[in-house]
Amino acid sequence: MAAEQTNPSVLGPPTTLAWEALLDLGTGSGSRVARLEHAVRDAVRAGRAPVGAALPPSRQLAETLGVSRWVVTEAYGQLVAEGVLEARTGSATRVAASASPRAAASRTVAGAPPGSEARVAPRLPYDLAPGVPDLRHVPRDAWLRAAREALSTASNDDLDAPARSGHPRARAAIAGHLHRARVVAGGHEAVVVTHGATDGMARVAAALAADGHTHLLVENPSWPVLRDVAARAGLVPVPVPVDADGVDTAALVAASRRTGARVALLTPAHQFPTGTALAPARREAVVAWAREVDGLVVEDDYDAEFRYDRRPVAALQGLAPDRVVLLGSISKTLSPAFGLGWMVVPPRWREAVAREHGPTSGPSVVEQLTFARLVGSGAYDRHLRAARGRYRRRRDALLAALAHELPAAGVRGIAAGMHALLHLGDEAPDAAHVVPEAAARAVAVVDLRRYQAHPVALSTTIVLGYGNLADARVAEAVRRLADAVRAAGTSR
Ligand SMILES: Cc1ncc(COP(=O)(O)O)c(C=O)c1O
Repeated sequence: MAAEQTNPSVLGPPTTLAWEALLDLGTGSGSRVARLEHAVRDAVRAGRAPVGAALPPSRQLAETLGVSRWVVTEAYGQLVAEGVLEARTGSATRVAASASPRAAASRTVAGAPPGSEARVAPRLPYDLAPGVPDLRHVPRDAWLRAAREALSTASNDDLDAPARSGHPRARAAIAGHLHRARVVAGGHEAVVVTHGATDGMARVAAALAADGHTHLLVENPSWPVLRDVAARAGLVPVPVPVDADGVDTAALVAASRRTGARVALLTPAHQFPTGTALAPARREAVVAWAREVDGLVVEDDYDAEFRYDRRPVAALQGLAPDRVVLLGSISKTLSPAFGLGWMVVPPRWREAVAREHGPTSGPSVVEQLTFARLVGSGAYDRHLRAARGRYRRRRDALLAALAHELPAAGVRGIAAGMHALLHLGDEAPDAAHVVPEAAARAVAVVDLRRYQAHPVALSTTIVLGYGNLADARVAEAVRRLADAVRAAGTSR
């Protein structure tokens, strides 16, 4: 498909590729930036864009594709960060030497936030990608026992078509669990069973858009999947900076005034990816803001169950059940393979959210009843306790290995969850070079820029997940990572 040069205006010398033909943004899902990234990755992976091929200058490509220049610079920046493209001052951006189709495939696994795009290869053996729980310890037997009990005790009526908001027993079990574990307010009537946090966000965003909302305040950095889902529903994401106390609430209020946004998507218990908990005064400030503007907070409570050094922070929802939609799922506690989650919805939004149920009414009733059984029998709590212990021990082993292998690096966001931020140090090589070097050593890590609304030019911070790393591989993974950092430094 490497076409002859047909339209010189889109081609940066000395390329012979007609990029406008290669990069069909189409009308697919995701933001334009995500679609352009995907199209370039695809062209590289399929071998249509060979190593060394120059990309057109951002202004030209933007004109040809009918998008803003920002879209192109964002996509180029991300792909440079991933090692798919390389940029040199004074020269065209090119397909990177390390971007062979095979390398690009493993990078997709390593670099993409889980769930944001289909995985194309098995996970790397030294999996330090954030967002993945310990897939070795999915409680298969407990789930099977619960499934057997749920199915054998289900009435005929139970096995009728799923209700839009979920099966009453699943809703009640989830409400009870959230009340005990997260101090969430509201009974079963507040709970909607979903396919996960992403599904919940899509439904809330659609309900908000139908109600006339046009903007969504989002943390910067943050998990791109939820903000992309909201953007697809028509809500323009407005980034708000995050610091050591969580989202900057003064900046949030200012952005709300500037744009008229009255909804914020936040991760108060454990900010993704910085790992901070929202400071108490800021929790109050967020609620006060939501009340003042007649707004709503969407609380992504994604891995709040795992906190090690202090007691868990209760959900923000408990402070203001009328102003907060809580999103949760078992993607981090069990596995994303189950596709089961929930949202807790204030009365004012229940009908609107129920209307936005998508093409299906919700997850399989059998799975819902199984999860209700797992919770009711205490097996879910037992699993959470065991998982918490495992993750804490693994985190400690990871910290010890990092102190030994990368003593100049600083680690942040370690009090909870299954990932940490590793600041390699001001003299360290750029994370964009470390990620591909790590992948070449079978280690998956992610450049922090992956999560930034406007990726910064220079960054030496990477995100390390330890959920899915076998205990026996922690020391070797860190040794290989240190090796990758050294190699990235010498190839500068
Ligand atoms: C920040 C964040 N929120 C939520 C989720 C869970 O999303 P879902 O329940 O749709 O799998 C993830 C999963 O990786 C995540 O990283």
